Amino acid sequence: MEIIAFVNNKGGVGKTTCSKLMAEYLSKNKKRRTLCIDFDPQCNFSHQYLHMEIDPAAPEGLMPPIHPDYDPTDEDDEGWDGRSSIAEIFYGQGVIPYPTFVENLDIAPGHAEKLLAAESVRRSEVVEKVHKQLASFLNSSDVRAAYDTVVIDTAPSKGPLTISVIKAASHIIIPSVMEEQPVQGIYGMLQLWMQESLTREKSRPLQLVGILPNMFKQTRLHKDILKSLQGNSAIGKYVLPVKFSQRIVFAEVDAADSNPRSIFDFQEQHVAKSEALEVCSHIAERIFA
Ligand SMILES: Nc1ncnc2c1ncn2[C@@H]1O[C@H](COP(=O)(O)OP(=O)(O)O)[C@@H](O)[C@H]1O
Ligand SMILES: [Mg+2]
Repeated sequence: MEIIAFVNNKGGVGKTTCSKLMAEYLSKNKKRRTLCIDFDPQCNFSHQYLHMEIDPAAPEGLMPPIHPDYDPTDEDDEGWDGRSSIAEIFYGQGVIPYPTFVENLDIAPGHAEKLLAAESVRRSEVVEKVHKQLASFLNSSDVRAAYDTVVIDTAPSKGPLTISVIKAASHIIIPSVMEEQPVQGIYGMLQLWMQESLTREKSRPLQLVGILPNMFKQTRLHKDILKSLQGNSAIGKYVLPVKFSQRIVFAEVDAADSNPRSIFDFQEQHVAKSEALEVCSHIAERIFA
């Protein structure tokens, strides 16, 4: 089971958008049973597939809706409030992923308050209470039996949540806009990747699929920054030969009333669909080769 994570501690670089495109490509085009995990307290990834609700206990945050399988009259559901997020792993509870409008694609949504709580666990306890939990969930026989691939979206931080994703992942992809600030984020992530690689068992390497330019515009700035990354002797080899352009439809399909809701359901010759197919198939070839 491949565990593919999109990481960059800068926000707004396309982690969520790329996670979504990759997850939909794998489930729709490769027929892989895919589990999406939203590990960002902002819950943007969850919101793509579920109608997330305002948490009355923390009104600035979101929580998952009632699960479609929840039945308050069923004894088996006693003691469950009917909602299930990936953050249950920090509370010793089971996680029950939600189906989505995409066949073969489920999501274990985020929960703002519960994920933020994990982000603030004391340093002395972080390994036991946070770092190990995601890996142990992903190693469980239930998850291994139900899914072929996992796609994880992360928060724009280098905190305990992102570290636990780096520890659990088999593959990471670093999306970035070709501008100064986001490019700084690439260096931070490469550092985390190298640190993690040093301590990993050899049998389970963490593969860096590459740096994925996103929201690319044919401007002097973007072209120059991309060129200098490609020419950099230390990191040029990690820059992927494919990229996502700045295209309004990539943002438009986020709306719940968008029709179609997936780029992959656009007509065959649509430029955004062709680009998504090109980028995702290239990444898939690198991962599954
Ligand atoms: N290639 C793209 N073209 C146009 N808009 C994009 C593209 N990639 C992302 N966006 C938009 O930019 C914003 C930030 O992207 P997002 O994926 O949420 O970044 P992150 O998860 O890294 O914070 C979102 O509104 C998203 O719809
Ligand atoms: Mg995001």
